[in-house]
Amino acid sequence: MEAKFEELIEGFITNRIGISEEFLGLPLAAALQKNIHLLKNDSKMIVAGIGNSAVIDKDDKIRSDKTCWLDTNSKNSAELEFLDIIAEFIRHLNRTCYTGINACEFHYALYEPGTFYSRHKDQLRNDSNRKYSMVSYLNENWLESDMGQLVIHEQETTRHILPSNQKTVFFQSDVLEHEVAVSSRARLSVTGWLKRI
Ligand code: OGA
Ligand code: MN
Repeated sequence: MEAKFEELIEGFITNRIGISEEFLGLPLAAALQKNIHLLKNDSKMIVAGIGNSAVIDKDDKIRSDKTCWLDTNSKNSAELEFLDIIAEFIRHLNRTCYTGINACEFHYALYEPGTFYSRHKDQLRNDSNRKYSMVSYLNENWLESDMGQLVIHEQETTRHILPSNQKTVFFQSDVLEHEVAVSSRARLSVTGWLKRI
């Protein structure tokens, strides 16, 4: 994974967003995708709130995805493998960039057709612990016409990133303004934050 970690960090340093196209590997991406389908059938994917538990505000004008938190005590092998990769990435980041990350949280996310997340930053109003955001996509054969791009807003430019299978993006939570464009197809991901608490 070392080369993929470096790919994320290099991209982050030069473009404010790191992108690794084949971060997850096909078997892990497929297994995580299956988990979301199972959670959905079990009614465990629920409409996401804005803000943290102290400031929950279910406002579908801002976001309309459904989420379910990953459980660090999970027995699911894909979930454990994913969280192991994240733990290894955190060790790499702390060793090479002295980031002092000491916690993380991740959720599955499902954007059904017609849903979106409007322009925002990832640091919550009353919680500055989120330092870096990471999103890993679980969508095979995603086409431009499926929309649902991650849109990165910068002063002069906007960048559009397709949520293609296995791809992972990495950026600073309190800096980058971004949105998820309306999707015309179910759009799946694992999204989370590296924290210093
Ligand atoms: C988020 C978010 C981006 C994406 O969940 O905060 O911005 O591409 N997700 O799913
Ligand atoms: Mn976000």
